[in-house]
Amino acid sequence: MTLKLRRLSHALGAEVCDIDVTRPRSEAEFGEIYRAFLAHGILLFRNQDITREQHIEFSRRFGELDRHDALPRDRHPQYPEILLVTNEPNADGTPSDTRYTGRQWHSDMSFTTSPSLGSLLRCFTIPEVGGDTLFASMYLAYDTLSDGMKQLLAGLHCIHLAGTRKIANATTGIPRAEEQRRINPPVAQPVVRVHPETGRKALYLGEKVKCFDGMTDEESRPFIDYLNRHATRPEFVYRHQWRANDILIWDNRCTMHQALGDFDETERRHMERTTVLGTPSGYVVASA
Ligand code: SIN
Repeated sequence: MTLKLRRLSHALGAEVCDIDVTRPRSEAEFGEIYRAFLAHGILLFRNQDITREQHIEFSRRFGELDRHDALPRDRHPQYPEILLVTNEPNADGTPSDTRYTGRQWHSDMSFTTSPSLGSLLRCFTIPEVGGDTLFASMYLAYDTLSDGMKQLLAGLHCIHLAGTRKIANATTGIPRAEEQRRINPPVAQPVVRVHPETGRKALYLGEKVKCFDGMTDEESRPFIDYLNRHATRPEFVYRHQWRANDILIWDNRCTMHQALGDFDETERRHMERTTVLGTPSGYVVASA
């Protein structure tokens, strides 16, 4: 097999064209897909009208799947490997808890000591316009820092929090955010991570980050805000416009992403995600 790739942006991403992800393939064939994933940070597969079982099966080729114990309210009731991201109301008519998932820049599960290797998001329903997702290359974010800033950041850790979705908290309730924090105590992660497979350095932060470990919020904020702004400069970003039956996998070790609320909320947006477990990283901190 030789993959037909179409690059999605200068910064990152490639579409794998003319492929059926459900077709059984050898380790050697899958190896080509995996190498493209490492090289591009994001792979897009269009027109994959597959079952949940097939979504899970394809995801397992990338590694062991998270059963989402850190986010128990958000998983599919029959498939713990699938996380819902939907604004479809619950069966009793109440608003979905996950309608604002991902609205801040983040890398999946960074608030745990088992942050994710990668996530595979499948699009079921998308509004007529909007509902896009932004992805940023954290390799480029790191590479383009000055030597002085790189030296300053070497060895620093940032404290990542769960349940910091400001919009969600305001509308779907503080108890949910409190539950998430109870299950997931604050975790410190290196600000610069070495990708375990490519060996490249990448920035690792986002809008769930509170402060540097060992510094106050006030001391940390200007740097964290600067680094997040720098990392999400338009030239480091790919904006994905979803179509139904897209599956997109991103590498959480060298990218971060943000779901945009750029759509009419009376229209439906329904996505389902599997999350591939990564290597352990970071440490729990007593309080933050
Ligand atoms: C996520 O952060 O996993 C969801 C992203 C999206 O819904 O676009």
